[in-house]
Amino acid sequence: MKITIIGTGYVGLVTGACLAELGNDVFCLDLDEKKVAVLNSGGIPIHEPGLAEIVSRNRAIGRLKFSTDIAASVAHGQIQFIAVGTPPDEDGSADLQYVLAAARNIGKYMTDFKVIVDKSTVPVGTADRVSGAIRTELAARLPPSQASDALADEAPQFSVVSNPEFLKEGAAVEDFMRPDRIVIGCDEGGNGPIARALMTQLYAPFNRNHERTYWMDVRSAEFTKYAANAMLATRISFMNELANLADKVGADIEAVRHGIGSDPRIGHSFLYAGCGYGGSCFPKDVQALERTARSYDQELLILRAVEQVNNNQKHVMGNKIVERFGADLSGKHFALWGLAFKPNTDDMREASSRVLLAELLGRGASVAVHDPVAMSEARRVLDLDFSKTPELLERLRFCDSQMDALQDADALAIVTEWKTYRSPDFNEVRTFLKAPVIFDGRNLYEPAVMNEIGFEYYGIGRSV
Ligand code: NAD
Ligand code: UGA
Repeated sequence: MKITIIGTGYVGLVTGACLAELGNDVFCLDLDEKKVAVLNSGGIPIHEPGLAEIVSRNRAIGRLKFSTDIAASVAHGQIQFIAVGTPPDEDGSADLQYVLAAARNIGKYMTDFKVIVDKSTVPVGTADRVSGAIRTELAARLPPSQASDALADEAPQFSVVSNPEFLKEGAAVEDFMRPDRIVIGCDEGGNGPIARALMTQLYAPFNRNHERTYWMDVRSAEFTKYAANAMLATRISFMNELANLADKVGADIEAVRHGIGSDPRIGHSFLYAGCGYGGSCFPKDVQALERTARSYDQELLILRAVEQVNNNQKHVMGNKIVERFGADLSGKHFALWGLAFKPNTDDMREASSRVLLAELLGRGASVAVHDPVAMSEARRVLDLDFSKTPELLERLRFCDSQMDALQDADALAIVTEWKTYRSPDFNEVRTFLKAPVIFDGRNLYEPAVMNEIGFEYYGIGRSV
C-alpha cells in the first residue's frame, strides 16, 4: 500500500520503517531539513535498537523515502499518518500546532480520497479539529460561490481515524512489530467504513495468528492512549511513594514488589521504584489529561498526586546524598552512571539525571558522568539546562568509560539501569572510588551483598 508518514521522529520513523519492512511503499515527510539530510545520507538521527538496519535495507530497495516536499508527500499516500510532536503548552495542555499544520497541508494539496491517521498522542476531540482544518483548506480551494455547498460533492473525500501508538523507546521496533494491541477509532458512518477497510488491510500482517485490533469510536481511541500512559505513570508513582515509606519503616520495596506482583490482578510489570519517571510522554501526557479534565470542570486528583510524587522523586537521590555528605557539597566529587531517561535510548527528555546534576553542581560538587549512548545528546541538552549558569558546567566531566568516571569519586550515583552497569567488577569499582559509597537510583544491586563486599549502599526503598 502507498503510505505517507508526516513527522520522522521516534514514532514516525519507526512506523515508516516497519511498514516498509512489511512491503508497503512509504514516503516520510519531515520539515526538519537536517533530519531528512541525515536519513538520506544513510544515517539515523536517533538511537533505537534494530532501527538502523530496517531503515537502510528498505531505503536501499526504494520502499522507504525521506523528503521535505509537502505536495509530494500528500500526493503519495492513500493513508496519511500524522506522527508529529504534541509537546506541552505553557499550561500543560497538548500543543496541537504541529498536528493542525500537518492537517492543513493535507487539505491544501489532496486531490483524491485519503485516510488521515492521527498517530500522535492527542486529546479527545482532536480528530474533529483535524477534519475541520482539512475541510477549511478544501473550501479555500473552491470558488467562493461554491465553497460551502459544493464541498461534500466536489471536493476530494477523506476520513480521519485515531490510531494511537503504544511503543516504548528502546524497544520501539519490537513493540511495533509485535504489538499487544492495535487500537483504531473509526467513524461508523460517512467515509468511516472505507477507512476501516483500508486500515484492516494495512494491519492484516499483525493479525495473522490472532486478532489484535480493538475497533472503537474515535473519541474512545484518543482517550485510551492517555488512560494507558496515566495508568502506567500512576503505578510507578504509587510504588515510589511506598518505597519512600519502606525506607522509613525498614521494609524492602523489592520484596514488596514481588509480593504484590504475584497477584495476577496486579501483575509484575511497571512496579519498579526508582528515581522518577522521565521521557517525552508520561510527564506530558499526565499533565495533558489533567488539563483536559479541568477544561470540563473536573479535577483528576489522582493524577495531580502522580505528577507531584514524580517531581519529588527526581530529588530523592539528591536528598540522600545531602543527608550523607551535608548540604554544602563543594570539594566533593561524584561519579554518575546513566544520563538517558531509560536504557537503550539516547533520549534525554525529562531525564532524572538532569535534576540530580542541577542539584549536585548547584551545591558545589564536581561530577564525572558516563552513558553508553546518550553522551552527545546530553552535552546538547545540558548546555541548554545550564545556559544561565555555564560556570557550573566547568565542574562536569564527560567520560568515555564507566570506570574512568569513578576515578577519585566520593561516591557513585546510578540513574539509568543500562545493562553494562548491572554487574561491574566491584573490586575495580572499589579501587577507583575514593570511598566505597553507592547511591543506586534503580535498585540494581542487592543491599546485603553490597554491604558484605564492603560498600555503603543506598537504594530506593531498601533500608531493611
Ligand atoms: P519527535 O519530536 O521525535 O518527532 C516529531 C517530528 O515531527 C519532528 O522530526 C518534527 O520535525 C516533525 N514535524 C513537526 N511538524 C511537522 C509537519 N507539519 N510536517 C512534517 N513534520 C513535522 O516526536 P515523537 O517522540 O516521535 O512523538 C510524536 C508523537 O507520538 C507525540 O504525540 C508523542 O506523544 C507520541 N508518542 C511518542 C512515543 C515515543 O516513544 N516517543 C510513543 C508513543 C506515542
Ligand atoms: C511509555 C509507555 O511505556 C509506552 O507504552 C508509550 O507508548 C510511550 O510512553 C509514549 O506514549 O510515548 P517510554 O516513555 O518510551 O514509553 O518508556 P517506559 O519504558 O514507559 O519508561 C518511562 C519512564 O518510566 C522511564 O523513566 C522509566 O525509567 C520509568 N519506569 C518505568 C519506572 O520508574 N518504573 C517502572 O516500573 C517502569
